[in-house]
Amino acid sequence: MRCLIAYLSYSGNTKEAAEIINDYLMADGAIVDVHRIGIDPPVDAAAYDMIFLGTFTWDMGETPDEVKDFILEVGYKPDHMAIFGTGETQFGGDDLFCLAVDKLVTFYGSRWPGLKIEQSPRGSQEQVVKNWLKGVLHDVKSLA
Ligand SMILES: Cc1cc2nc3c(=O)[nH]c(=O)nc-3n(C[C@H](O)[C@H](O)[C@H](O)COP(=O)(O)O)c2cc1C
Repeated sequence: MRCLIAYLSYSGNTKEAAEIINDYLMADGAIVDVHRIGIDPPVDAAAYDMIFLGTFTWDMGETPDEVKDFILEVGYKPDHMAIFGTGETQFGGDDLFCLAVDKLVTFYGSRWPGLKIEQSPRGSQEQVVKNWLKGVLHDVKSLA
């Protein structure tokens, strides 16, 4: 399985989630490319069996502009897009927590629930990331 992990991170939390996902997928035997949104050259989304798109949430529940630009750059809605993100409940409570993840899940009609992590995924939340991946991969393999 060829996977792309595309993520945006300013202060490192979403990057850490992307790293955990990368390690897990590689241990599972996948071929993984990592795309740093806003930094790396454009990708060919059609070349991947699975795309993991990661973002933080910004400015009262907003999706960062760089992620919107990435969506435009891809140019279509791949049907194998799983969304993950980090946020903080201190910025607007549960209603705004990782709202960009919910928005992207809806936008792509993703068949998997979005993964939402409070700040850094290192420590106890690492298992939350792995459990989410386990569910996504189980589903992907049963569909194959
Ligand atoms: C100005 C500002 C606004 C934010 N707004 C939200 C928000 O609306 N919802 C949310 O869940 N987190 C919000 N956050 C928290 C970030 O999403 C969180 O720190 C995230 O983990 C940062 O990701 P990064 O470390 O990958 O850059 C905000 C942070 C800042 C600095």
